[in-house]
Amino acid sequence: NPSTRFRQKLIKWHTSENTRALPWKEEKDVYRIWLSEIILQQTRADQGWKYYERFTEAYPTITDLAKASLEEVYKLWEGLGYYNRCRNLHSTAKYIAFDLKGKFPNTFESILELKGVGPYTAAAIASFGFGLPHAVVDGNVFRVLSRVFGIETAVDSTAGKKQFQQLANECLDAKSPAAYNQAIMDFGATVCKPDLPGCKSCCMQSFCVAFKEQRVNELPVKEKK
Ligand code: ADE
Repeated sequence: NPSTRFRQKLIKWHTSENTRALPWKEEKDVYRIWLSEIILQQTRADQGWKYYERFTEAYPTITDLAKASLEEVYKLWEGLGYYNRCRNLHSTAKYIAFDLKGKFPNTFESILELKGVGPYTAAAIASFGFGLPHAVVDGNVFRVLSRVFGIETAVDSTAGKKQFQQLANECLDAKSPAAYNQAIMDFGATVCKPDLPGCKSCCMQSFCVAFKEQRVNELPVKEKK
């Protein structure tokens, strides 16, 4: 079955070839996982890196972040933009540290209810923080799946969103969702890139539909430009 083969190749690539170094990798503290995912929502990993280190140094725990003034947190956030992210970050820290007595929500649904957390971020936190089987779906995932499986449905159409979500759930490694999600993020960022993808030495080459049909640059398809 194609999704099983894809999953196995991806996990194999992740454990033997993935050299992408990121400071939040293998992190077990769900506060830090959440913090990294909020920073990475509209910021590239290489830029977000130093902010993540800055924040974890200034606020080692969610209570430290909750106790800080919003002004102080704004100062640390300076340069990242999208300041509503920063406001949500601080208000959620207060909610978890004080109202929930420091207990981070531990189900997908309760994580999704947090301010500033959408389906992608909730799946990332649920899988990295709690090992829950939720597949991340974003631009990276659309690109990888559309190419490997040769899917021409527009990723921004209603049918496309449904189809890709379904396929992503099928591909997910339910036994190690964290490794699977990190693997597909890194694979999309370093191999199956938007421009100049590394098809030449790609571990998926033998069964990648887009490669076989020389349509790598035509996928994913978008309805709106
Ligand atoms: N983008 C969003 N979450 C990420 C993560 N955990 N690693 C790399 N890039 C990401």
